[in-house]
Amino acid sequence: MLHFHILTLFPEMVMQGLNTSILGRAVKNGHIFIEAVNIRDYTLDKHGKVDDYPYGGGAGMLMQAQPVFDAYQSIVDRVGRERASRVIYLTPQGKTFCQEMAQEMAGESDLIFLCGHYEGIDERVLEEIVTDEVSIGDYVLTGGELPAMVMADAIARLVPGVLHNGESSQTESFEDGLLEYPQYSRPEIWHEKRVPEILLSGDHAKVDAWRREQALLRTKERRPDLYEKYRERQF
Ligand code: ADE
Repeated sequence: MLHFHILTLFPEMVMQGLNTSILGRAVKNGHIFIEAVNIRDYTLDKHGKVDDYPYGGGAGMLMQAQPVFDAYQSIVDRVGRERASRVIYLTPQGKTFCQEMAQEMAGESDLIFLCGHYEGIDERVLEEIVTDEVSIGDYVLTGGELPAMVMADAIARLVPGVLHNGESSQTESFEDGLLEYPQYSRPEIWHEKRVPEILLSGDHAKVDAWRREQALLRTKERRPDLYEKYRERQF
């Protein structure tokens, strides 16, 4: 069982997004646990404020250290320091997320995601609690919630039991470093396009060989960077 704890100012957004479809089923079946912890619930400010101006001036507001730290501490108090040791801050400045990171994180018992907003978070609390800074790509979003949801989805599907038969995590793109081969379903002819003959042959060895070849061709054409890495690993 993998526990996701998401520190956020928008708990409904995260819970709505992650309690749907395959992840929703995984929660029901007890393969994963997901909670959103509302940072605003932990502010000591009597008006519920969680942000303030940055020292030294500049545009925008910063999330203050106190509510972020106390929200994190509430998780520590419930699950213990050991289990609450992996804290991932979503930021464009982080290491770029990839399948290998998803694989590694899927082996943890607990993951805490810290979602920033406004212009960021007071550096001092980041220094105290964050163990990993992760970006989901070179573009800037308005907050860390979507990146946390992207990561939770990619990680959760690797937890044993989350995917059922026919939803295998192994044949998907990137698991062997190659993109997926093209797929076809009924009818045999659609808009005058025929399904490749070999797929109708019933010859499983031939089908496998064709798919392998298509995966290689696709990867070479669309992602030459991945293709090179794959070739290097073959020798
Ligand atoms: N916060 C804003 N943009 C982000 C990104 N690309 N990745 C992770 N966190 C972010």
